[in-house]
Amino acid sequence: MNLRAASLFSSAPELFPLSERDVPWLCELERQTRVSLWQERHFVDSFQAGHDAWGVRRGGAGLGFMLVLHAPDVSHLLNIVVAPTAQRQGLGAFLLRHAMTRAALAGNTELFLEVRPSNKMARALYQDFGFQQVGLRKGYYSADPQTGAREDALVLRATLPILETT
Ligand SMILES: CC(C)(COP(=O)(O)OP(=O)(O)OC[C@H]1O[C@@H](n2cnc3c(N)ncnc32)[C@H](O)[C@@H]1OP(=O)(O)O)[C@@H](O)C(=O)NCCC(=O)NCCS
Repeated sequence: MNLRAASLFSSAPELFPLSERDVPWLCELERQTRVSLWQERHFVDSFQAGHDAWGVRRGGAGLGFMLVLHAPDVSHLLNIVVAPTAQRQGLGAFLLRHAMTRAALAGNTELFLEVRPSNKMARALYQDFGFQQVGLRKGYYSADPQTGAREDALVLRATLPILETT
């Protein structure tokens, strides 16, 4: 393979399953994006609870991740993050599409999530995928260290296609 072909190949996004070994770089991406501020214990709890966790990379280190909880009736997107240096290149959409596929494969027809009203980039992404607001959780997010104010969460839902798994 020549150099140009190799670089084209390595730039294709690739999904990979995450485990507790990945917690350090997941925490680092959280720190860089400063939106949900999951800490080490949140990731560890999530892995121990068996949540569905995937990373995305382009041949090198992880550039983003998502975690989904599949309940027997609905799935819930717990977190989705793309490194600031890799944003607006389609990786968020790539991860969200995978989250929706995994939820459908788990046999669920709905995917829920919470988002801050102020998080315009995430809201635009969810809107692209057909998520609609179905609720509001007052004061859901912990207090902003600068303003001391808690922030509400919008509860969004997308309807998923029924997938044939056989
Ligand atoms: C939200 C997030 C995951 C999006 O990831 P991304 O890789 O930048 O998203 P994509 O490049 O796939 O963009 C997909 C669509 O989302 C929307 N979008 C993403 N970033 C946007 C921005 N800064 N401004 C406006 N729209 C934006 C656009 O509709 C975009 O489609 P387009 O590029 O064709 O216009 C990323 O911004 C992120 O990690 N933010 C910090 C963590 C976070 O807020 N997570 C969500 C918690 S609920």
